[in-house]
Amino acid sequence: MKQQRINLERKIDDSYDLVIGTDLLLRIAENLRQKQLGTKYAIITDSNVRRLYADKLSDALNSEGLRNDIFYFRAGERSKRLGTCEALADRMSAEGYGRDCAVIALGGGVVTDMAGFIASGFNRGVPLVMVPSSLVAQADASIGGKTGVDTEHGKNLFGTFYQPKKVWLDIALLQTLPVEEIRNGLAETIKHGVIADKELFEYLNSNIEGLLAKTEADLLHIAEKNCVIKGNVVMADPDEKGMRRILNFGHTIGHAIEKLSGYKISHGPCVSIGMMAEARIAQKVTGFDSVRRLEELLAKTGLPVKIPSGMCSEAIMEAVKLDKKSKDHRPRYCLPTRIGHMSEFKGEYADYVNDKTVKKALQAAR
Ligand SMILES: NC(=O)c1ccc[n+]([C@@H]2O[C@H](COP(=O)([O-])OP(=O)(O)OC[C@H]3O[C@@H](n4cnc5c(N)ncnc54)[C@H](O)[C@@H]3O)[C@@H](O)[C@H]2O)c1
Ligand SMILES: [Zn+2]
Repeated sequence: MKQQRINLERKIDDSYDLVIGTDLLLRIAENLRQKQLGTKYAIITDSNVRRLYADKLSDALNSEGLRNDIFYFRAGERSKRLGTCEALADRMSAEGYGRDCAVIALGGGVVTDMAGFIASGFNRGVPLVMVPSSLVAQADASIGGKTGVDTEHGKNLFGTFYQPKKVWLDIALLQTLPVEEIRNGLAETIKHGVIADKELFEYLNSNIEGLLAKTEADLLHIAEKNCVIKGNVVMADPDEKGMRRILNFGHTIGHAIEKLSGYKISHGPCVSIGMMAEARIAQKVTGFDSVRRLEELLAKTGLPVKIPSGMCSEAIMEAVKLDKKSKDHRPRYCLPTRIGHMSEFKGEYADYVNDKTVKKALQAAR
């Protein structure tokens, strides 16, 4: 018997920059001409964003002499499936795209997740640049390197960790975003305030009208804060082994509600309700004393704060058992101790809570 060791120990530097500003499309093209990430650029986008911005980005690339094509799919979470990735990859191959190309993800979180996934697999991986165009994508989805698609068994069940070369947060793109989508992104921004930044929470409290009216200065301010907060958490725990779990605040119960609604209620509102229920659990477990303030801010944002009538607590508790933080079907929760600070349970950032406490919190969230 012979044995040959394949030595693959390696040090990887996946560092990249997030650039925040307004009207960046020309700058992106200019930067790509200097960086030469690929000989051709596949702009992956959805049907809505294609109409609004894809030609502008394509023209900007053309003006820098960069070859590119637009590949798009029908907008919406229902497209976030392996089949769509296969169709897009096939179209790219048919257009002569190979391992010397680069992918530009232009769109909301569905686009950034799926284009990221395609970039991680296409010809065994090609460079990726993100141009997130929704507030959810700018605040959350484009930062941290999680890519993936949904399967019939659930959301994001198939994917990779794959870091982009650069993320461009162009605030001007948000001007065309419907206000419900702004609210979805604000739910994650409020979450960031609760888990890590009291000042951001206060800022949101004072400037929520400006944000809902898409005032540029307000959007720029929260973009910077969101990047710092999510960026710091991701840097501390890139593979989601511990601290990154704090990003899950509101999501343990939020995901259960989303699932029980048959995905009819969108993610932002579900996270809002989830945060209210989990804040009440925290009130009992960690002495969190800002339930009322959180409720006021969420309500001012126009997000729901109560569990939908007809969705019973037992069903929610059953659904929560399937959460990814569960061990042996016993759910664990990430809880704030106060605004801007999360509880750490022996480096785990998630802990079990007795059923009675959860049930009471769910009853109070009605
Ligand atoms: N990878 C991660 O870490 C992470 C984090 C959070 C969310 N996500 C994923 O992100 C997805 C949700 O993202 P989303 O809320 O952006 O959904 P989305 O991509 O479906 O965008 C929402 C809607 O806004 C439209 N849109 C996007 N940009 C626009 C613009 N500038 N102007 C007008 N319309 C625009 C889209 O076409 C779509 O109709 C989910 O699939 C979720 O799983 C991933
Ligand atoms: Zn979320």
